[in-house]
Amino acid sequence: MENPPGSADSVVGAARVRAGECVTWALPTDASCAAVARRHLRGVMSALGLADELVYDASTMVSELAGNVFLHALDGVPRVPALGALPELSVYRRGEKAQLVAQVFDATPWKGASPWTASRAGFDSEGGRGLGIVDALAAEHGGEWGVHRSRARLGDPHRSGKVTYFALPVGAAWPFPQMDVGYALRKLQAALVARGLGPVHRSEGWNMGVLSVRAEITVWARPHGFHLTTPSVGTTRHPLVEITELAELIVRCNEDLDAAGR
Ligand SMILES: Nc1ncnc2c1ncn2[C@@H]1O[C@H](COP(=O)(O)OP(=O)(O)OP(=O)(O)O)[C@@H](O)[C@H]1O
Ligand SMILES: [Mg+2]
Repeated sequence: MENPPGSADSVVGAARVRAGECVTWALPTDASCAAVARRHLRGVMSALGLADELVYDASTMVSELAGNVFLHALDGVPRVPALGALPELSVYRRGEKAQLVAQVFDATPWKGASPWTASRAGFDSEGGRGLGIVDALAAEHGGEWGVHRSRARLGDPHRSGKVTYFALPVGAAWPFPQMDVGYALRKLQAALVARGLGPVHRSEGWNMGVLSVRAEITVWARPHGFHLTTPSVGTTRHPLVEITELAELIVRCNEDLDAAGR
């Protein structure tokens, strides 16, 4: 589907991204995968009013990631698109100094050397041109990229798989909407349940609250932010407004624990 800059889809997508929501599109399971991802991202970034050079470079990066899904995850063979089995492109913002995150999801294992610990270094031995371009453009813009386990956002059940992603500073002031503890906690709980995690238990009171995602993953919320405790990184602090990124971190940790058989 065409999604030119200025289309209703791009404008609505841009408004949702600015508000801190995640926007997701299903991608085709044929050679048009890269072109469609490129058009969606370009449309949203242009509607966000971002600089042409950033839009161009991000479009190149997403094209490499989505091209890899067709070439490697789907072995370069066009498939009949099956509902609930499509690759996905998701776009959201993160960080108080705004960064734009673009993720490409597919539900197949990584090919080649294990990528889970890597962003840059782990890919050196793979020698691919595409990820080399993503790496160089991320570095040029002061951003980052990587690959990690994740879950689909579309379809039910929510398939386990992986995302390759990049995050680029957008150089714009995008204030987040204000959030109180209870609202932020309920939004985070809803975001996790929407990814198929659960049961996610919530308790609230005295301007604080807690979510128990599983025995190893707990999130405390207080007026100054979330505290996430996981086995891999210990306790980390996140702004109350950073719900999309925090939900993704929790999904990633959940998938890592499942993969480790915990
Ligand atoms: N979505 C994916 N699923 C599985 N494996 C992947 C995926 N993306 C990349 N890889 C692995 O990482 C390697 C490096 O990818 P990269 O894009 O750098 O090179 P390439 O796709 O092999 O070649 P080029 O991009 O130059 O056409 C791939 O050869 C493949 O083994
Ligand atoms: Mg490639």
